[in-house]
Amino acid sequence: MTVAPTDSTKLNAPPTPPARSQRLKADTMATHDVLDKRIMASKPFDNPRNYARFLQAQYAFLRDVDALYEHAGLAALLPDLAQRRRYASIAADLRDLDAALPADAAEPPFGAELDVATALGWLYVSEGSKLGAAILYKLAGKIGLDEHHGARHLAGHPDGRARHWRDFTAVLDTAPLDAAGEERVIAGARAAFMRMHGHVEACA
Ligand code: HEM
Repeated sequence: MTVAPTDSTKLNAPPTPPARSQRLKADTMATHDVLDKRIMASKPFDNPRNYARFLQAQYAFLRDVDALYEHAGLAALLPDLAQRRRYASIAADLRDLDAALPADAAEPPFGAELDVATALGWLYVSEGSKLGAAILYKLAGKIGLDEHHGARHLAGHPDGRARHWRDFTAVLDTAPLDAAGEERVIAGARAAFMRMHGHVEACA
């Protein structure tokens, strides 16, 4: 039997740490799961009335995060940042359904001076939600909604959802952050998920 030569430098090399996007995914998987189940339990795609309540929660969240898409620090990292926003399309979806605008939030989601790391954590949640939107877009089709009426904010990007997401995670994974920044990016993502949980409850 021939034994393949081993490369001792490889054997002794420390394991590559998971990418930041993978750490965020692992850290928020449980809260995402609860959110996904909570939304689906309210049967948003059974009829336009239920769907309008889902839209109101999505609207409240996309209104919260809209300022991120003008954040100078994030724009320096992501050249297409402004084109990624969905506030206009969710507002049009609400109008399509004749649904009321949710009341302004009592508390702003974050302060005016938001650091890049925390902002990246929030943006991870907003951009990541475009992935699950592929499923939701198909379900919305069952009640006659699409990218031209009622489900604009769930439609995919012209470049394709996967490419759009990869372009974002490439930036997320390589943005230089110190140890405190690594903590803040995770805290930002957790805060964003908690915020959406609150909107879903408020609009139920
Ligand atoms: C019923 C509602 C939802 C369903 C069924 C759902 C489903 C999914 C699915 C299947 C993925 C993985 C897609 C893929 O890897 O290609 C995903 C990813 C993700 N979703 Fe949701 N989602 C829902 C709602 C939300 C909401 C409301 C948010 C946040 C506001 C959210 C945030 C995310 C994030 C951040 C990711 C990226 C995870 C990663 O790092 O890969 N999702 N979702």
